[in-house]
Amino acid sequence: MKAGRLIWSTRYHGTGSCYPHPVTATVLSTAQLPIDVGPLLGGHRYIEPETGEFSREEILSRLGDVQGLISLLSVAVDEEVMDAAPNLKVIANYAVGHDNVDLGAATARGIVVTNTPDVLTEATADFAFALLMAVCRRLGEGERLVRTGGWRGWSPTLLLGQPVFGQALGVIGAGRIGQAMLRRGQGFGMTLRYCGPRRSVAADALGAQFCDLEELLEVSDAVSLHCPLNASTRHLIDAAALARMKPSAVLINTARGGCLDAEALAKALREGTLAGAGLDVFDGEPTVPDFLLACETAVLAPHLGSATYIAREGMATICAGAIRSVLAGDVAPTTLNPEVLR
Ligand code: DGY
Repeated sequence: MKAGRLIWSTRYHGTGSCYPHPVTATVLSTAQLPIDVGPLLGGHRYIEPETGEFSREEILSRLGDVQGLISLLSVAVDEEVMDAAPNLKVIANYAVGHDNVDLGAATARGIVVTNTPDVLTEATADFAFALLMAVCRRLGEGERLVRTGGWRGWSPTLLLGQPVFGQALGVIGAGRIGQAMLRRGQGFGMTLRYCGPRRSVAADALGAQFCDLEELLEVSDAVSLHCPLNASTRHLIDAAALARMKPSAVLINTARGGCLDAEALAKALREGTLAGAGLDVFDGEPTVPDFLLACETAVLAPHLGSATYIAREGMATICAGAIRSVLAGDVAPTTLNPEVLR
């Protein structure tokens, strides 16, 4: 399907005479979004690139009078950006993950930071489960075999994989998306476990057993990462963690690339101490290291977890609403640093 705006969107790049309210602030988006959020901003002036994304230099040069910023997860919203934006009041990060935003620096400057939870939960869990299925049933290898003309016909031993139905699923981080993943596992008759900093009433209600990371790694047939990236989760899955996993197990990551040690993962896949991996996110993306590209049993995707029309439209609408609220002096429901409001 062709990339671009959602078909029901109307384009708008004006500064205003058709707006019902006078233009009072400037809002910059670092990328063109799937819907035109200009009309949703309550009369504020809206700037976005004609296509694609602004470069970092373009972003920095345009921030002088910007009061609202919509940022992609690929943009480091750090002190340099905030220093270049002395009038900035709100950063609406177009993602639920916000490891790209220096939350402390924003809070110190009194800038509200928001994200886009909920609207992408089911889309991301769908994609994580799709990766799980693809890895267990060796779909990537099968597709490559057909496309490269290497398929010689049905064989009793061709690309035998791991079952999914009735297996043990371990979810690391039982927040919204982790719970949605557990629900999918429930539908596939899987035994459910989860780990994280605290118990989740919702995950417990799904019949998932709360356990520590070590147990989860040792008993699960499929392990799926759904934790945020922060100091305590960077390289959470390292060589030692991988060594605890069954050789028949698979690892799925739709969270952030930095949550696992990719070199250790590639080694485990190469040496056959892990059956497969499904990766939607990479440290330093969009660059994917050669040692991962060389892993036949890894299914690799270009960060598509939330990539449905509905989810991406919802994310844009939340960003616009948050900016509009903050600039009107109201509280945005998705505020990440409410201490700024005090
Ligand atoms: C997020 O929201 O954090 C995803 O990675 C992209 O939607």
